[in-house]
Amino acid sequence: MTAVRRITVTDLQAMRERGERITMLTAYDYSTAKIADEAGIPILLVGDSLGMVVLGYESTLPVTVDDMVRHGAAVVRGAQRAHVVVDMPFGSYQGGWRDAMRNAVRIMQETGAGSVKLEGGERSAETIRHLVAAGIPVMGHIGLTPQSVNALGGWRMQGKIPRDRVRLMADAKALEEAGAYAIVLETVPAEMGAKITQQLRVPTIGIGAGPYTSGQVQVVHDLLGLFQDFKPKHARHFLNGAELIRGAFDEYRRQVETGDFPSSAESFMLDDKMRERIERMRISRGGDSPLRASTRRHPTDDHAEGYAPEHAHSQGATEE
Ligand code: KIV
Repeated sequence: MTAVRRITVTDLQAMRERGERITMLTAYDYSTAKIADEAGIPILLVGDSLGMVVLGYESTLPVTVDDMVRHGAAVVRGAQRAHVVVDMPFGSYQGGWRDAMRNAVRIMQETGAGSVKLEGGERSAETIRHLVAAGIPVMGHIGLTPQSVNALGGWRMQGKIPRDRVRLMADAKALEEAGAYAIVLETVPAEMGAKITQQLRVPTIGIGAGPYTSGQVQVVHDLLGLFQDFKPKHARHFLNGAELIRGAFDEYRRQVETGDFPSSAESFMLDDKMRERIERMRISRGGDSPLRASTRRHPTDDHAEGYAPEHAHSQGATEE
């Protein structure tokens, strides 16, 4: 089997030069990362949005380096080909470049990610310069920077007035000059998304920045319709995930209550005779499950000797 080559920051810059649009999606766990990777998503962002959509905080501020390391490593294990970028959480770089270096090194070492992302324009440029000089690829993030939500006065569009637009452009240029390999533009007018993209050589990845950026990023829980607290204007539900999952949970509960789950196919038997006996018990009760027909912990508890119920509890056990 040939090893899959992981996408690097130079591959992403080459995509920008070829005019290929770049797709980025957040991921926080092994299984989702694996599916996104199989779908060909080239960049997986382990965003600190995990604080809101996975951990249930009201903002991204409580997220810690430990959280990012735990989830970052899971995503790297799940994705073979995608470039994985891990957010530096609030408090891990605001204290200056030395703090940032220590935390970025830890994130890179303990997750196996290909790069880190941090928020802020000119104010973060010096830190980015040091990280890049140390060989750590950095993605920038400007516009609505959620870690500064208190200073920005809420989740609002940035770059509304001319002075703010001048500052946004200066921020983008400062990040490119500092060596950021790509820049996220969040919640800025589409015209600004286009203008910044035109003026930079590095790729811009937009979220609520219109259609003219080099790429787009979405939070996976928004895309799948799993996050129900609110729907950001920039998000599109590509799946009604919450509805579908609720339906599956409801059906599971119903089948446990009626005794339709588990059947012999989902149970561990010692031999065929035992399987037949359970099926006969099921049929003799008019199709009803023996599980439902009594208060026994297991249908075989008093009818069939030799059954080892602990088999049914060993995680991932498969029938031989
Ligand atoms: O944390 C995150 O998910 C992000 C994206 C919104 C860009 O930073």
